[in-house]
Amino acid sequence: MSSHGTPIPMTSYPCGPLSGVAEVPGDKSISHRSLILGALSVGETKISGLLEGEDVLDTAKAMRAFGAEVTDHGGGNWSVHGVGVGGFAEPDQVIDCGNSGTGVRLIMGAMATSPIAATFTGDASLRGRPMGRITDPISEFGAASYGREGGRLPMTIVGAAQPVPVRYVVPMPSAQVKSAVLLAGLNAPGQTVVIEKEATRDHTERMLAGFGAEISVEDTDEGRVITLTGQPELQAQTIVVPRDPSSAAFPVCAALITKGSDVLVPGIGLNPTRAGLYTTLREMGADLTYENERVEGGEPVADLRARYSPDMTGIAVPPERAASMIDEYPILSVVAAFATGKTVMDGVKELRVKESDRIDAMAVGLRSNGITVDETEDSMTVHGLGPESVPGGGEAASHLDHRIAMSFMCLGMGSQNAVRVDDGGPIATSFPIFEPLMARLGAKLERA
Ligand code: S3P
Repeated sequence: MSSHGTPIPMTSYPCGPLSGVAEVPGDKSISHRSLILGALSVGETKISGLLEGEDVLDTAKAMRAFGAEVTDHGGGNWSVHGVGVGGFAEPDQVIDCGNSGTGVRLIMGAMATSPIAATFTGDASLRGRPMGRITDPISEFGAASYGREGGRLPMTIVGAAQPVPVRYVVPMPSAQVKSAVLLAGLNAPGQTVVIEKEATRDHTERMLAGFGAEISVEDTDEGRVITLTGQPELQAQTIVVPRDPSSAAFPVCAALITKGSDVLVPGIGLNPTRAGLYTTLREMGADLTYENERVEGGEPVADLRARYSPDMTGIAVPPERAASMIDEYPILSVVAAFATGKTVMDGVKELRVKESDRIDAMAVGLRSNGITVDETEDSMTVHGLGPESVPGGGEAASHLDHRIAMSFMCLGMGSQNAVRVDDGGPIATSFPIFEPLMARLGAKLERA
C-alpha cells in the first residue's frame, strides 16, 4: 500500500543513455528542520527550495497544529511565523506524521519540554518503527509517554512542565535522536549535553547556531560532545535549502549503470556528514566529478557529474562511513550489482529499522532480479555481475519505502530486462518529481 492511497505498481524498462541536467528537490533533513526551528523562533522565517514531499508537508501541518503560522507562497517558497521557544500550543487533533520518522521524532523532542500533551501517529511503516529511542531521553527531561507495545505509535507524549536539562549519550548512530534531545533541550533551563560516539548529520547543530542558540561541539575521546544552552530566544532566519544529496543519488547512480549516460546534477549539498556515498562510488571507480564547488547557506555545495562507469569494482565499505551514507545503501546495493566483484556493506544494522527493513527489502528484490546477496543482522554483501550483465526481469516489494522503490526503478534502467515494483506511491514522500525528472533524462518508467 502506498502511504496515502492505493498501490501504484511501476515498471522500469531498460533504456538508452541517460543524459541532461537533473534538478533534484530540496534536502529533506534541512526542510524538516527549517519548519520546526522556524516554528520555535520569534519573527518570520523565510524558506526557499523547501522539499514539498509528503514527509515535509506533514511536518508543516504539524507545526500549524502546535500554533505556528506556516504559509506556502508557491514554488518552494514558504514562511513560518514562529511561537518562540516554549510557545507551542497544545494541538487539538492527532498529529499524523505520515511516513516520516524524522518528522515525528524531531517534533516529539521539540514538544517534550513544554507543558502540553500531543498524540502522534503515522502510516503502517511509521507505526511499526521504534520510538523508545526518543521516549527514553525525553523521559529524562521529565516528559511522559504512553504508546503501544514496544514503544510504537500511536503514542501520546505529555511534555514536562518543569523540565530539567540532561546529559545524554546517544546509544545508536542517529541524527534523529541527537536532534530530538537538542530540540527538547531548547526549553530546559541550563545546559543540555548530547554525546554521539559516531558523527551523524549535523544540520541541527549548524541550524541551531544559525538561529542564534548558544551551542558548541567538541571532539573528545568520548565522541562528539554537543553542549546547548537552554531557553534562548531563537531569531527568525532566511533559509536557502540545498538540493538533497540522498535524492541526487538516484539520477547519479542510474547514470553510472546505464550505458552511454552523462548526467549533471547541480547544486547538491555535500556536507561531509552526508557525502559518504560519493566517496564510496569514487573508490569503486565511478566516473563521478564535483564541479563548481562552493558554499551556499552555510552548507558545502557542488554540481555532480556522473558518466556511465563500466569499470567499477566491488569494495568493502568502511563501517565507520555508514552514518554519512545511511540512506544510500539501497541504491549502492544496486550499483554494486553492476560492479565486478563483491561489495561488502558492514555495520549497517540501523537499516533494519528504517521505513522498511532495508537489508531484507533489497536482498529479496535483488535476488528476484538475478543477483546474489548475502545478509547478516548487521551487513549486506552484493556479488557484482559486472556491466551489462544484470538480468533484471523481477519484481520487488517497496514495503512503503520510497528509497526501495526508487532503487529498483534505477535497477531496471541498466538491466537486461524490465524491473517492477509493487508500489511506487511512497516515492512522493521525498522525491515527488522523480518520474518526470528521470523520464526527461531518458528513463522509461511506466505506471501499470
Ligand atoms: C535523518 C536521520 C537519519 C536518516 C533519515 C533522516 C535526519 O535517520 O536515515 O532519513 O534528518 O535526522 P536516523 O537518525 O534514524 O539515522
